[in-house]
Amino acid sequence: MKVLIVGSGGREHAIAWKVAQNPSVEKIYCAPGNGGIAQIAECVPIGAMEFEKLADFAEEHEIDLTVIGMDDPLVGGVVDVFEARGLRVFGPRKNAAIIEGSKAFSKELMKKYGIPTAAYEVFHSPEEARAYLETSAYPIVLKADGLALGKGVLICKNKEEAMAGVDTLMVNKQFGAAGETIVIEEFMTGREVSVLSFCDGKTIKTMTSAQDHKRAKDGDQGLNTGGMGTFSPSPFFTPEIDAYCKEHIFKPSLDAMAAEGRPFTGVLFFGLMLTENGPKVLEYNARFGDPETQVVLPRMENDLVEVFEACIDGRLDEIDLKFADNAAVCVVLASDGYPEHYERGFVIEGLKAFEGKDGYECFHAGTKLTEKGIVTNGGRVLGVTALGRDLADAKKHAYEAVDWVKFENKYFRHDIGKEL
Ligand code: AMP
Ligand code: GLY
Repeated sequence: MKVLIVGSGGREHAIAWKVAQNPSVEKIYCAPGNGGIAQIAECVPIGAMEFEKLADFAEEHEIDLTVIGMDDPLVGGVVDVFEARGLRVFGPRKNAAIIEGSKAFSKELMKKYGIPTAAYEVFHSPEEARAYLETSAYPIVLKADGLALGKGVLICKNKEEAMAGVDTLMVNKQFGAAGETIVIEEFMTGREVSVLSFCDGKTIKTMTSAQDHKRAKDGDQGLNTGGMGTFSPSPFFTPEIDAYCKEHIFKPSLDAMAAEGRPFTGVLFFGLMLTENGPKVLEYNARFGDPETQVVLPRMENDLVEVFEACIDGRLDEIDLKFADNAAVCVVLASDGYPEHYERGFVIEGLKAFEGKDGYECFHAGTKLTEKGIVTNGGRVLGVTALGRDLADAKKHAYEAVDWVKFENKYFRHDIGKEL
């Protein structure tokens, strides 16, 4: 069979790597892909937002299954375009991807169906938001309603910061239309856990847990990034917490979407905070996490293509989802300066060291294949991933492998997998 993957990051590399393990997959295409994906798939220069071109490509090349990795095309309705043309595609339709595309929608869904989350209010004008902030408790959290590359969340310590935040989001529109509506919510504290799940509209099966390290610097300092590394499983996501979430969060979320006439098919990602008063939803994403996927898929024992097919066909209940009793750690190698200013185009050396080494994978994020070889082409460059018996073992292996790779301005955190 032929598979097309849409996206260009470490997540899509991990998806392609896992899809390639299915013996009936004879060819993988990736649009637009990157330097690492190009080693296992044919990369095609079509942007993720070029829906008709993607569908034309799928038709012309007789693609059997298209997998959408990224949030923007899902929220924009790429799945609807494929379905209207009779093409098989894995991912939620536009009316379901809104669970990630609009924070106001997701908060209202949780309120209506009693799914635990932070208390909040929605605002459509800066005046209303400012009036509310006059009397609220601090710290407080401001969130742009729409997609903002994970950067539309402002944690404000006091009224002054919050008022400035309203200007940033609603007046200066730093995130464009995404900030025309904002959610202001209660500040919560606790451990964060990511739980990804497969959904077929009516059945939900959760994958093993993971934890992201979002801050740029060691000790969870510095600016928020797209993610500097991950580990799986999360030792804090105990069987008791899992049971609570299954009953109060996971299944109720899927059922709520179905009840709203928005059945969710694809990967539903729960960003959770384990608070003193129990687990609460921080956010939903309508896709695999990046870099959570890089630690979750290497531990998955099932064939990924079979799971995708079961989701599309509405028979996920027949799948027994299994994860190995081990651990994985992914350390992101970034370009120094990320997430602000950084340079591109440095030659990457040492990638051959991963060849033939079981339990070690180097997933590419911002790389490009050029005549000089593979060069850096983004802020997050590579996701060096290793398995181990347990987290300590996986961490040791991942940091061993970090040393195999060399490029100018290489930057990484030294504490991924440490229980901070
Ligand atoms: P989100 O994109 O909604 O997951 O927010 C990004 C990050 O901001 C989360 O991973 C949390 O670290 C933080 N955050 C979001 N909402 C809250 C909240 N209500 N209280 C505390 N921290 C939050
Ligand atoms: N790692 C967080 C995300 O994918 O949104």
